[in-house]
Amino acid sequence: IRRGFSSSIIKNGVIKNVTIIGGGQMGAGIAQVAASTGHTVTLVDTSEDILKKSRKGIEGSLKRVVKKKFADKPEAGEEFIQNVLQNVSISTDAGASVQAADLLLEAIVENLKVKQDLFALPPVSLNTSSLPITDIAGSTSRLDRFGGLHFFNPVPMMKLVEVVGTSTTSQETFDSLLNFSKALGKTPVSCKDTPGFIVNRLLVPYMMEALRLHERGHGSKEDIDIAMKLGAGYPMGPFELCDYVGLDTVKFIIDGWSAKDPHNPLFASSELLNKLVAEGKYGKKTGEGFYKYK
Ligand code: NAI
Repeated sequence: IRRGFSSSIIKNGVIKNVTIIGGGQMGAGIAQVAASTGHTVTLVDTSEDILKKSRKGIEGSLKRVVKKKFADKPEAGEEFIQNVLQNVSISTDAGASVQAADLLLEAIVENLKVKQDLFALPPVSLNTSSLPITDIAGSTSRLDRFGGLHFFNPVPMMKLVEVVGTSTTSQETFDSLLNFSKALGKTPVSCKDTPGFIVNRLLVPYMMEALRLHERGHGSKEDIDIAMKLGAGYPMGPFELCDYVGLDTVKFIIDGWSAKDPHNPLFASSELLNKLVAEGKYGKKTGEGFYKYK
């Protein structure tokens, strides 16, 4: 499956071989960016079928990149795609794939138990939107080598990576993760392991307050969206953003935070959000959320 090259974050600090567990939206995006910047990537998921789809997705996304980047040189563009794809191998065997990795990066479902089970394996980083990474780290014996890398969707487009250190992450591991993010062409920011890190801690309460403002009858969703786009310069209004992120995801995050800190008014739930989620209206991905999509 892969070349027999092994080193660790601690040994030389440079991350070259990356194993990504979870070939969904985020995992495939991270794989594409890592492979495009000269890293060797092994993408792991539960079935060959899922992995083939991930590869197809990466290829499709690369074609879009190449159309812009190599507009006048289609041959160079095709060569670039082939080189990048060569850097990506796929596997359903997480245990074997981890052996040669400098970095094990997890991007599976937002479920603490499933994530914990995975981290019986060693060196690590993970992509979670809302779970405290310290809770997940509980299942690994290499706490000094454990940290968080929070990417944003779509990964090839979004420049930010939140690098999260826990109280046990070593400086060396943290620096490796910062440097790895830079090597991917991203801009890293340093975060503590607090709910939502920086971006979601500010963004999710903001979206929830927009919902509550609307529920109080103080503005239509259309007007609130227009107001935040034209008045605050946001590319999307809060309702559009909720539909884009997925209402189920927003609810999952806010419910999780509220369970831990029930008296925090910033984490209060919204009837409207709960109703739409109960009806299966999750936003863009289901064709309807606050707005309807074709
Ligand atoms: P997704 O549902 O598209 O992909 C998850 C993948 O993990 C699936 O292909 C699934 O088959 C695989 N998987 C599940 N359990 C597995 C296991 N035990 N071993 C191997 N593969 C397994 O999810 P998505 O959107 O890529 O999100 C992944 C993680 O990233 C979640 O924790 C999410 O909260 C976080 N995240 C998501 C963002 C987003 O905007 N979608 C942004 C930033 C973080």
